[in-house]
Amino acid sequence: MKPGVGLIGVGPLAGQPTPPGWVPAAGPPPELSEAEFFNFCRLIHRHAGIHLSPQKKALLQARLVKLVQDRGLGSYQEYYRRVVEDKSGRELTCLLDAVSTNQTAFWREPAHFVYLAREIVPEWRRAKGRDSSRWLWSAGCSSGEEPYTLAMVLLTALDPEELKRIRIFAADLNTQMLAQAQRGIYPEDRAASLPPEWRRRFFQKGHGRWTGYLRVKPEVRELVEFFHLNLMDPFDFQEKFDLIFCRNVMIYFDRQTQAAVVEKLYRSLKRGGYLFLGHSESLSNLRHRFTYVKPTIYRK
Ligand SMILES: C[S@@+](CC[C@H](N)C(=O)[O-])C[C@H]1O[C@@H](n2cnc3c(N)ncnc32)[C@H](O)[C@@H]1O
Repeated sequence: MKPGVGLIGVGPLAGQPTPPGWVPAAGPPPELSEAEFFNFCRLIHRHAGIHLSPQKKALLQARLVKLVQDRGLGSYQEYYRRVVEDKSGRELTCLLDAVSTNQTAFWREPAHFVYLAREIVPEWRRAKGRDSSRWLWSAGCSSGEEPYTLAMVLLTALDPEELKRIRIFAADLNTQMLAQAQRGIYPEDRAASLPPEWRRRFFQKGHGRWTGYLRVKPEVRELVEFFHLNLMDPFDFQEKFDLIFCRNVMIYFDRQTQAAVVEKLYRSLKRGGYLFLGHSESLSNLRHRFTYVKPTIYRK
């Protein structure tokens, strides 16, 4: 598969709300039983690789209550059946949208962006075949702040000719986050972590009902192409990447899933390509083929 193929129209979402069902207006919702928790955990792990520890039971319950209520269903079990019996996969998508953790920020873990601008860009310039294109991938991009930061860094570091050869792909499992990412509209305070000069250069200020919001400018959005991808699924891109950011994604996976995804990311990189992980992630406990560069940075 080539990025771009499989790009989904992240439009209106499945599972239109229906009137509240079993949860009484007053009083707490029924408790998720251990067996129900186990079944949902197994389903979520099988499809998204996400491992939910027993401590996450209350959180899962809170998210399920809403899904059950919105569909006017009578129990968690009924909802579970609906998910597994829905051959279209839409209910599963809604469930996975509801359980994934999507915390992100512009300019998150800035050392990675500094490394890209100071070390990798000059290396690309020195490399033979200067005119070859550079492909970057934000795997687990959430609501888009990470790939847009990558775009801003490159818009700042590269000249217009070099920019023509840059393509940034950004993928996530969560369709709601992808829809937000494609809109590229954020409350103003989300951009507070960026230098003021960048806020002026790369964002449009909202007016009227959009007062208090910023929109990422077209020159930034045009560099980024979003697509739906579950890292658990097989993927084999025609073109290999120069750099993959997969930060704060595998932290939710168990070791076996992490090792399998790391191997797929390895195969998706060009020789010499870089893998960036989140600040609390490491490959040290996994079997892998990467060369260590520095904490959270690896190379093929
Ligand atoms: C905590 S966010 C990290 C966002 C960004 N990379 C960052 O570091 O700021 C983790 C993202 O990984 C996505 N994710 C989780 N499991 C996934 C999977 N199996 N395939 C693709 N994306 C996944 C989630 O939907 C979520 O948006």
